[in-house]
Amino acid sequence: MFAVTAARIDVDDPLAGLVLGERPDPELPGDGWATVQVKAASLNHHDVWTLRGVGISADRLPIVLGCDAAGLDGDGNEVIVHSVIGDPDAGGGDETLDPRRSLLSERYDGTFAGLVAVPRRNLVPKPAALSFPEAACLPTAYLTAYRMLFDKSGAEPGATVLVQGAGGGVATALIVLGRAAGYRVWATSRSEEKREHAVELGADQAFPPGARLPERVDVVMETVGQATWAHSVRSLRPGGRIVISGATSGDAPSAELTRIFFTQLTVTGSTMGTRDQLARLARFCEQTGVRPVIDRVLPLDQARDGFAAMIAGDLFGKIVLAVLARGDDPRNPPGCASRPLRSPP
Ligand SMILES: NC(=O)c1ccc[n+]([C@@H]2O[C@H](COP(=O)([O-])OP(=O)(O)OC[C@H]3O[C@@H](n4cnc5c(N)ncnc54)[C@H](OP(=O)(O)O)[C@@H]3O)[C@@H](O)[C@H]2O)c1
Repeated sequence: MFAVTAARIDVDDPLAGLVLGERPDPELPGDGWATVQVKAASLNHHDVWTLRGVGISADRLPIVLGCDAAGLDGDGNEVIVHSVIGDPDAGGGDETLDPRRSLLSERYDGTFAGLVAVPRRNLVPKPAALSFPEAACLPTAYLTAYRMLFDKSGAEPGATVLVQGAGGGVATALIVLGRAAGYRVWATSRSEEKREHAVELGADQAFPPGARLPERVDVVMETVGQATWAHSVRSLRPGGRIVISGATSGDAPSAELTRIFFTQLTVTGSTMGTRDQLARLARFCEQTGVRPVIDRVLPLDQARDGFAAMIAGDLFGKIVLAVLARGDDPRNPPGCASRPLRSPP
């Protein structure tokens, strides 16, 4: 099968370890696993971290990249692949808390391939209303945003939520899910164009990074890390909460401890979500009409262009990789009709 793999780690030049080419079809690691024919997969910053050697050691390479996929199971059912490989019992009912849990592409080969092997329990029915590219956006960025908003934030609809770094996959997910659920969403971005897009998506207002806000907010959603941390702490009302799931710009900012205890803030970590939360997220999209924000859809063999755009921060929303079958029209792949392939910039 054709696949996109991490062949070696390069901290400074992640694209140097990216290899596109033929790989053996996956073998099922055990009973209860199934093979999924991938129709679409989506890129996450996790794939860039893997190429930089964050969260993986060199002895695991080569490994097929990709956490997210939507495709067909062995019986032809349309499915979404939950990326967390873990035992809910070992995590007190939550597989993300299993100390031995991994994401696809960490211990087991990932989704940037024609086929991927996953535990059967990780397959969630794909709502017919979502295209394969839309469904392929849900398992990491949208699931993470869903848990941050509806599980970890403690904020009720109507509360004001600040989303740092509006252009990213998780950030755009926070904006559209938060808007649909009735939060007042404020966003920051380094780019004026992305700030305008954020407002078009449903953010109430958008600001440059570090801007003084009209008033302090109830919750901050943090995925940028070092570059925005001090602003996140300063922007909260007394007793407010930061929910953090990422640190794209660095993970060692000044901790701002005095402000945190003096204004009695809460800092809450959040990672991915359960299979059941993924199923509820899919239903949330079906019921509200919310659709993932897709920056572009590229054929799998153009994955390098997608990685380059993500590394450069040249994206707004999700980059989706479409897996074309023989005979498919590369300009109009099946299941992608709602969004034509965009040429790489
Ligand atoms: N814990 C989890 O389960 C989980 C799940 C998903 C993602 N994550 C993490 O969350 C982060 C975002 O992931 P993603 O897939 O959404 O990535 P992405 O699509 O590449 O987005 C990157 C974001 O970072 C912002 N950014 C980057 N460098 C910045 C800087 N120097 N200053 C300000 N903003 C900067 C960009 O905002 P603008 O360009 O708009 O300013 C953009 O929002 C990553 O670190 C990822 O590893 C964690």
